Amino acid sequence: MTKERMIIEIKEWLKEAAGYIQVSLTNQLTVSQKSGRTDLVTNIDEETQAFFIKKINKHYPDDRILAEEKEFNTIDSLSGRVWIIDPIDGTMNFVMEQENFCIMLAVFEEGIGQLGFIYDVMRDELYWGGKDFGVFLNDQKMSTPKNLSLSEGLLGMNAYMYGENIYSAKEIGRASMGIRISGCAGVELIAMLKGNHIGYISNLSPWDYAAGLVLLEEFGFKYSNIKGTKLSFSKREYFLAATPKAYEDIQKRLSFE
Ligand code: IPD
Ligand code: CA
Ligand code: CA
Repeated sequence: MTKERMIIEIKEWLKEAAGYIQVSLTNQLTVSQKSGRTDLVTNIDEETQAFFIKKINKHYPDDRILAEEKEFNTIDSLSGRVWIIDPIDGTMNFVMEQENFCIMLAVFEEGIGQLGFIYDVMRDELYWGGKDFGVFLNDQKMSTPKNLSLSEGLLGMNAYMYGENIYSAKEIGRASMGIRISGCAGVELIAMLKGNHIGYISNLSPWDYAAGLVLLEEFGFKYSNIKGTKLSFSKREYFLAATPKAYEDIQKRLSFE
């Protein structure tokens, strides 16, 4: 199976899943709480994940899967080929706004990101690409965003981190042109790919960042755990991604006391 063929196939799956999600919004959703009142999952998150798992098991039976819901949410290592899936990123937006949510899917091989897909379902905008392929919005190749500094751009941030001033988040926000909070990691990563935001600081799980990293990497963005070390792909952790200039600016302003 060539990478090109895989891309065609994954795009077909994403379109099918997106069509299903859109139709589902005309029906009653079943919404449940996970860890608390503001941590939601719907029947559509679970059904969308099950749809991708069925496709992968059928077409790539030897591959492994790391996905947000249920028993798929841990993996012992990234050896071999691993699919990393967030069936609906921004579930709170999905429930409350019926927009500003994404499907995110990544393919990693031996720990290296090969393909990444972030699909803004309601805008029908598929951001995708991969190692040595570049980054595309639907069929259009995107150009590399400018390497702006922190003071020159908008910064996406997690609401809790900003509100609680975690790691001096407020000071970092003040040094930027302003902070933006969308409630969806996919929307934030898209804003970086478009050159609208210079960075994103949040607290994320592997399925929140895997697809984005493949695309950010193509454009030369820097990313890491907030402490500057490698992302673990095994737990939720504080996350920083930014243009090379803004990454350095943010690192200098972070405070870990
Ligand atoms: C969440 C969103 C949110 C981010 C959280 C994620 P979910 O994903 O991306 O923006 O701040 O950390 O968990 O749970 O809606 O898939
Ligand atoms: Ca999710
Ligand atoms: Ca998510």
